[in-house]
Amino acid sequence: MVINPKVIVEVGVGPEGRSTQLFLELCKHGIAGHLWSVDIDPEKTRPAVERIHKLGLDKYWTFTVMDALEFTQNFDETINLFYIDMNGRYLEKTQINEEIHLEIFKAYGQLMASNGVMSINNTCVFDGCRKGLIRFTEETDWQCSFLRRYVGIAICKRTQNIVLRER
Ligand SMILES: C[S@@+](CC[C@H](N)C(=O)[O-])C[C@H]1O[C@@H](n2cnc3c(N)ncnc32)[C@H](O)[C@@H]1O
Repeated sequence: MVINPKVIVEVGVGPEGRSTQLFLELCKHGIAGHLWSVDIDPEKTRPAVERIHKLGLDKYWTFTVMDALEFTQNFDETINLFYIDMNGRYLEKTQINEEIHLEIFKAYGQLMASNGVMSINNTCVFDGCRKGLIRFTEETDWQCSFLRRYVGIAICKRTQNIVLRER
């Protein structure tokens, strides 16, 4: 398990930044270290950025407006916890979406700590996301557990010993 993740990276802030705020509250309360978020859309994310600022949470936060894949090219921290909640321009065509997600999982997978955890949202909603994730586990040493309730969170680790229960 990742306890007290020092480095959290999140893809997808959106207009509300719900996950962003959650991770930042963990940082504020000493449960996590620092959050790096990346989102491709500066307009869409503006309300979230303003809210985070008003809440005084930005000291735990580094936000980059950039494509998720491009972001991995210059990121030189080792990631303990990764969360991806991405939608938008790739999702109309499932095949493209599958390839993009596969590329993203591989790129971030290489930046992860050996005991790091990757968590993926929307695996029930977007076929391409789920298929890309399944291929990722087939082509790498990552293992995945799907929590199928709601929109489908998936949790990935490198070890064989994932024991997660659906609630
Ligand atoms: C559903 S929203 C994120 C919601 C947020 N996690 C929350 O809990 O409120 C998805 C976000 O993914 C972003 N996105 C889509 N494609 C992206 C890409 N290639 N790189 C980075 N962000 C992307 C969109 O701009 C959008 O803001």
